[in-house]
Amino acid sequence: MDLMASGFTDVFKWWLFMATDIIGEPTFGESFRMLETGKKNQYILDMERQISLQAIRITFPYLLKIARYTPISVIKNTAEAEIRLKMYAMQSVERYKKLVFQTPSDPKPTLFTKLFDEKSGLSYSDIIQEAQGYIVAGSDTTAVTLTYLTYSVCRDSRVREKLVAKLTTLPEPVMDKSLRDLPYLNQIISETLRLYTAVPFGLPRLVPPEGAQFNGYNVPGGITVSTQAYSLHRDPAIFPEPDSFNPERWENPTKEMKDASLPFSGGSRICLGMHLARMELRLATALFFRALPNARPSTKEGMTANEMEMQSFFLMAPQVHRCIIES
Ligand code: HEM
Repeated sequence: MDLMASGFTDVFKWWLFMATDIIGEPTFGESFRMLETGKKNQYILDMERQISLQAIRITFPYLLKIARYTPISVIKNTAEAEIRLKMYAMQSVERYKKLVFQTPSDPKPTLFTKLFDEKSGLSYSDIIQEAQGYIVAGSDTTAVTLTYLTYSVCRDSRVREKLVAKLTTLPEPVMDKSLRDLPYLNQIISETLRLYTAVPFGLPRLVPPEGAQFNGYNVPGGITVSTQAYSLHRDPAIFPEPDSFNPERWENPTKEMKDASLPFSGGSRICLGMHLARMELRLATALFFRALPNARPSTKEGMTANEMEMQSFFLMAPQVHRCIIES
C-alpha cells in the first residue's frame, strides 16, 4: 500500500493501526487487520476517544456506572465507548478460544495461553479485563511514541540525515538483531521515550502496612506514593537543556540518566510489553526512514507545531490526534 500516494499522510493513524494489529498477534493469535482496511473504524475512534476521556474515567468512576441515567452527553459517550472496548476484548478472547479449539492438544502459544490455564485461577471476567488492558496498553502507547519519534526526526534534517545514513549500512533483509546494535537508532528511541513519554502521569503505588524507608525518609504504611516520568525526564541537573530533542545525549548515558528514565515505569509493575514495544519502535523507525528518507512535517495540510502539543489525562497524545508528514 502506498501510504504517501498523495504526497502526505497522517502517521499517527497508521502507527495506531500498526500497533493494534501487532498486539493482536502475540495476545490473541491473530492480527486485528487494521492496516489492511486502512480506515478508522469504530474501534479506532473509541481508542482515540479513550485517550482524551481518561480524565472523566479517573475523576468520575462512579458516574460512569450510572451514565445511562445522566443527561450529560460526554459522560454517556464515555460510558458507551467503555462498553464497546469491553466488547472488543470479549470478541478477541472468543476468537482466541476458537483458535485453541482447532488444536486443543497444541494450542498456539500467546500471552493469553497461561491465563486460560485452569491453574491461573482467573475468572472469565478477569480474563476479559486483562484482554482490555493488553489492547489499550499495547497500542496507543506505541503509536504515540512512534508519532513523536517520526515528527522529531522529520523536522530536524541533521538528525534525519544522520539516521538515514546509518540505516543504509544495514545488511538485507533488515532484522531486529542488526537494529539492536545500531547505536544512533537506539539513541533516537531513548530520547523520544524521555521527551515524549507516553505515560507522563504519576503512577500510584500503595506503601505496605508496615511502612517503608526511602532515601532517609520514613514513609507511613497505607499511603499512596507515586513517581512521575514527565518531571523526572526534564530534570535539568540530569538532562541539560531538557526541552531539546538531542539523541546524542544518550551516547554515554550517566547512571543518573538511566536511573531517572521511567518511560515504562519500574519495579514489579513495570510495563509487561517493554521488549515488544522496543522491537516495534526499532523496526518501524528503520523501515519508515529507509522507505521515506526525505520525510518532513507537512506544510500542505496546514499542520502547525501547535498541533503536536502534548495533551495528557493519563496517556499522552498530540492534542489534535494527527501528525501529517509529507515526502
Ligand atoms: C512505547 C510503548 C509503551 C510504553 C511507553 C508503555 C508504558 C507503560 C507503563 C508506564 C506502564 C506501567 C503502568 C503502572 O506502573 O501503573 C505499563 C504497563 C503495562 N504495559 Fe506498557 N507500554 C508500552 C507498550 C506496551 C506494549 C506493546 C504492551 C503489550 C503487551 C504493553 C503492556 C503493558 C501491560 C500489560 C501493563 C500492565 C503491567 C502490570 O500492571 O503488571 N505495553 N506500560
